Amino acid sequence: MSERSGSPFSRRAAITTFAATAGAAAAAGGALAAGGRDAPPPGTAGAGRRVEPFHGKHQPGIATPQQRYALFAAFDLETSDPVKGGRLRPEQVAANFQKLAEWWTAVAERLMRGLPPGPRPGAAPDVPPDSGIADGLDPARLTVTFGFGPELFERIGRERARPRRLAPLPGFRGDRLEAAWSGGEIFVQVCGDDLQTISRAFRALRSRAPGLARLRWSQQGFLGGFGDATPRNLFGHKDGTANPRPGSAAFDRALWSTAADEPAWFSGGTYLVFRKIRMDLPKWDTSTARTQDEVIGRRRGDGAPLSGGREFSTPDFARTGPDGKPLIPADSHVALVRDVPMLRRSYNYDYAVQAISEPIAAGHDHGEGSADHDHGENMPRHSGSGHDIYDSGVLFCAYLSDPAEFVRAQHKLAESDRLNAFIRHTGSAVFAVPPGLRPGQRLAAGLLSG
Ligand code: HEM
Repeated sequence: MSERSGSPFSRRAAITTFAATAGAAAAAGGALAAGGRDAPPPGTAGAGRRVEPFHGKHQPGIATPQQRYALFAAFDLETSDPVKGGRLRPEQVAANFQKLAEWWTAVAERLMRGLPPGPRPGAAPDVPPDSGIADGLDPARLTVTFGFGPELFERIGRERARPRRLAPLPGFRGDRLEAAWSGGEIFVQVCGDDLQTISRAFRALRSRAPGLARLRWSQQGFLGGFGDATPRNLFGHKDGTANPRPGSAAFDRALWSTAADEPAWFSGGTYLVFRKIRMDLPKWDTSTARTQDEVIGRRRGDGAPLSGGREFSTPDFARTGPDGKPLIPADSHVALVRDVPMLRRSYNYDYAVQAISEPIAAGHDHGEGSADHDHGENMPRHSGSGHDIYDSGVLFCAYLSDPAEFVRAQHKLAESDRLNAFIRHTGSAVFAVPPGLRPGQRLAAGLLSG
């Protein structure tokens, strides 16, 4: 039995201390001044601060070992003139976009280094430039990652600069997409190991947007404290086992755009497919252990493929059991999507609110006064108010060099994945994620020039 080697992300090995990265940060963004405006806020200086590099060939927050928390958001550029009224021309929208990209680049770089975000353009002099809520806190491996949606390019009159593989996703069977969680022209992903630091970072970014762009949606996710182990999703399965490992040729091939037909500014970029997928937890929690394993094709406990071995053993899809059937069912999740080249960098979400939308199982009514009913496997009969329609699941993030790979895989899953009985896709978006920045470079400079 061959082994897929180790956990794709070795968090401990990759966590960098401030002491280790101070040199790189200084080279990248100018040395930290001793005292004065560029000094870290009181209480944050010193060794042990965990800083991820902002500059590089690729944006941070992709190959970065996965942090514990994430905030995802999408913005749309303002298209009407707030002063004179009327519609803005594409070149005016582009000028606003350029301004926002410049401010956001500066803010993201400073925050990732553990510095305050800097002056807020247009603010009165006696208004504090920052909320101060993260003063004294570690940057906690904060990363900020930006992406551009398919509609952005037309909006700013730069259709020719659109990455060739960037197009709205097709509809998939079973989709129940809600506008409140879908689409967007500019994408922001903020990840870190401290929620307060993430909240502050997003607040600082958002405060630069009024007049230039509007928030369309935002969502937050989390992962357990898993050390070097693969994190678990809310179904309890290890999720991410078969991901390609950063630094490997397979990872580079799966993610980074090198295609000759892509615009030059996009070289080294990637794409992100984002899906909000609700999970029917009551139904899952009352299904048998065997069902839970066979739906995925792996053992829930240790993540081993049902063909045998351990978590990183290569699944043997041809191996059959005493009944002559494959040990990994042909319509299990992993049998359908094996070897699709993508990095899944997803987060769990639990919004702790009742979903306003319909229940996951079709025809299943939990409204006031609905009749007694059961769910099939092992759930006691209950009336309409027997349990809640709760909004929790996975914020599925796939980074890949060609979204067509996702489309192919998702069509297959939508047709026959055993998981479909337990999940529902309720949000969807796709973005081109530009390459990383060199010191002095600004986000989107390449696509706005030339
Ligand atoms: C709620 C929805 C989903 C859940 C709970 C889920 C769960 C899992 C689990 C537990 C595994 C096995 C462990 C691993 O290799 O990470 C897995 C593998 C995988 N999933 Fe999903 N997944 C979901 C949705 C999706 C979607 C929408 C796609 C893309 C179309 C996808 C693509 C993959 C791929 C490519 C693998 C690796 C298969 C292999 O090469 O072995 N998953 N998923």
